[in-house]
Amino acid sequence: MINRDALRRSFRERYGSEPRLFRAPGRVNLIGEHTDYNDGFVLPMAIDRETVVAGSSRADRKVRVYSLNLDEALEFDLDQPGEKRRGIWLDYIEGVARVLECRGVMLRGADLAVSSDVPLGAGLSSSAALEVSAGLALVSLAGGEVDGVALALVGQQAEHVYVGTMCGIMDQFVAALGREGHALLIDCRTLEATPVPLDTSRVAVVICDTNVKHELSSSEYNVRRAECERGVKLLQVPLPEIRALRDVSVEEFSRHEALLPEPIKRRCRHVVTENERTLAAARALNDGDLDGMGRLMYASHRSLRDDYEVSCRELDVLVEIAADLGAIGARMTGGGFGGSIVNLVGRDALDKFQSTVAREYKRATNRSPTIYISEAGAGAKEVMSTEY
Ligand code: GLA
Repeated sequence: MINRDALRRSFRERYGSEPRLFRAPGRVNLIGEHTDYNDGFVLPMAIDRETVVAGSSRADRKVRVYSLNLDEALEFDLDQPGEKRRGIWLDYIEGVARVLECRGVMLRGADLAVSSDVPLGAGLSSSAALEVSAGLALVSLAGGEVDGVALALVGQQAEHVYVGTMCGIMDQFVAALGREGHALLIDCRTLEATPVPLDTSRVAVVICDTNVKHELSSSEYNVRRAECERGVKLLQVPLPEIRALRDVSVEEFSRHEALLPEPIKRRCRHVVTENERTLAAARALNDGDLDGMGRLMYASHRSLRDDYEVSCRELDVLVEIAADLGAIGARMTGGGFGGSIVNLVGRDALDKFQSTVAREYKRATNRSPTIYISEAGAGAKEVMSTEY
């Protein structure tokens, strides 16, 4: 958790005024990977790492932003045309501001200071945490209000247009609307979310970061999206009513898969089966069937590794180590090609799990993993001074 007093102090020293504070969490996806942009189902939870934006409004339309993590100050003017995709951290904040204004939300200038403990490049959605916390700050400081779904959509559009990643809605959605003690079963077509209780008295959600990020991740992400769209076109011949892979059942897929060339066939098989696994996982969690949930997580990993081909050696090594240690469930999480795996581990086995994963991963890859244990946290909100 970010030290709110230190952030507030730093803000006061820099800008000489008293800020309001807004926060949004990172996330880990328990299951439902690469399904969101196929109108499908995902089951992420917000983690207890967060980005906090301290801010106060200005009389003009200038937005000044200071990053405590990078010790860097940048600014832009809402009345001057902005530049897109510069590849700098300001793109996320400026992108959100411009998308909000494009959607008719009139902003005021603001002084902002940002501090985050969501690790970068770990597959834990540091970008969504930044977009959503900054969006909430900018709207609130302009005297407006925004609901969670709208905030998530603004963050996603900023990412598409100003950052250049054609992401789905999962990360921003759960950053905006996460619920303490729950994962969210999100229907990425209707944007409806059902909270699924996550009882962590006996098991812990353990995240192991490979500490690698392969360059492939963003280019291959867009290739996978295109392969799914191609699959939909081909499947529309026998199934004209489908709009996305979400509309194809596992049974329909097996009946028509011969129409699809490789690798499109395997890509579509992953998405179709992953949607089914995600719905089954939500039922398993609701029923307290952790073993059932764990089996689905392992199956999801195999499907991402073999059919969707977005895993990498380091992720596979971590999942194998976790399986050998008897983790209830383990799988890569997020976009893939590096980043983290997520595990369900019995509380009684936690210490041994952490030390053995660290040792065995180092032995296999000559790298050290970073291990986080997280409860399911709440989504974005203003932090009141009485709360810290
Ligand atoms: C990234 C994207 C999400 C989602 C995942 C894969 O995190 O931002 O929208 O597509 O990859 O499940």
